[in-house]
Amino acid sequence: MKIGIDKIGFYAPHLYLDMTRLAENRNIDPDKFTIGIGQEKMAVPPMTQDAVTLAANAAVDMLNDVDKEAIDFVIFGTETGVDSSKSAAVYVHELLGLNPYARAIEVKQACYGATAGIQMAKAHIAMNPGSKVLVLGSDIARYGLSTPGEATQGAGAVALLISAEPHILAVEDESVYFTADIMDFWRPVYSDKAFADGKLSNEQYIAFFSRVWEQYKTKADLELNDFAAVCYHLPYTKMGYKALKTVLDEGNEEVQERLLTNYKLSTVYNRNVGNIYTGSLYLSLLSLLEQTNELTAGDRIGMFSYGSGAVGEFFTGILQPDYQDYLSIERHNALFASRSEVTVSEYEAMFDDALPTDGSAVELEIDSDPARVCLAGIADNKRQYVNKEKNTTL
Ligand code: HMG
Repeated sequence: MKIGIDKIGFYAPHLYLDMTRLAENRNIDPDKFTIGIGQEKMAVPPMTQDAVTLAANAAVDMLNDVDKEAIDFVIFGTETGVDSSKSAAVYVHELLGLNPYARAIEVKQACYGATAGIQMAKAHIAMNPGSKVLVLGSDIARYGLSTPGEATQGAGAVALLISAEPHILAVEDESVYFTADIMDFWRPVYSDKAFADGKLSNEQYIAFFSRVWEQYKTKADLELNDFAAVCYHLPYTKMGYKALKTVLDEGNEEVQERLLTNYKLSTVYNRNVGNIYTGSLYLSLLSLLEQTNELTAGDRIGMFSYGSGAVGEFFTGILQPDYQDYLSIERHNALFASRSEVTVSEYEAMFDDALPTDGSAVELEIDSDPARVCLAGIADNKRQYVNKEKNTTL
């Protein structure tokens, strides 16, 4: 039985900051951000969006009533969750109106969470072929104003419907994963900003890729020439390129050209959103699939997942017949086209604005946020979520 990605949804907040404007404001050559790092625009979340709402917005237009009834497991990968106890998956389960006979959990290992979710989903469906699993990767990446990491911030979510006989990508069984205790990037519970040892994180990303790739080739008996494309976790779009470069000479000229072309296409969405942590690899996959007409059924796509701390995994998927018919290119084009630019000072004010942490109540203005699902405030220490169409307040 094939198991894999049946549908993919994506959401980013309606506001963005232009990286050239940011560079100019910080007295940095804009080429460093747009070429050296490889980012054009950074998604900026309003107060009315958090990891829960971003994920719900990524899934809300993607699911039909049959899906909602069949989903019996919601796995929410995030490292910027909103509660230390209750899982973000439970909120999303209600906001989307899913079948109550379902499991709902949150998974955390930096940017690796959603990949763990996919592998768990695969095992669940192998045991329960009629069921579907909703895997969410949703985060807000924050490093701080004027920090080296600032240019790699972002916000957004990817929703993946995992099922038997999937329409988009069948995930193959062979996979290699690797864990080592490394302090390359972390966020202590008292901080709303991540700490990063930038140089070490870049080195470890490449080292983990090398480890899992080498082992994968032996285990699966495959080589670079067997791949139509390789997608990477993209903290910024230059990072995956650095990893790809380390293996490119394993392929012949035609393969190198193909992989480089597809790599570029796989970075278009990420370049305009920034790091969305857990969802970044899947945003890259979505970008590739929605930007090319060249890939065909049977093509193998490699996927490198990396979550600082660190866990890395290399796995693969096979494109399914007519997969294009199951993408939502128009919806995602409309999402990008409808975004509005904010100035650097507006972004800075939004960055510094925070929800109360002393238990006081707050009501947020949700009319200026076009998103279907919004955070409307906090009352009695409970977040108040609204699905504007379902008219549900949690
Ligand atoms: P930095 O140290 O300020 O930048 O910040 P740099 O000096 O290394 O320059 C970056 C690149 O721009 C270099 O290219 C420069 O040469 C180039 P490279 O040598 O790397 O190819 N450059 C220019 N190019 C054109 N024109 C110019 C110019 N000037 C310089 N004028 C750093 C970079 C990534 C370290 C920083 O942004 C950072 O700390 N980011 C956060 C950490 C991060 O993203 N790490 C990536 C790997 S870890 C990971 O992926 C996991 C993560 O997603 C978290 C999770 O798992 O949850 C982060």
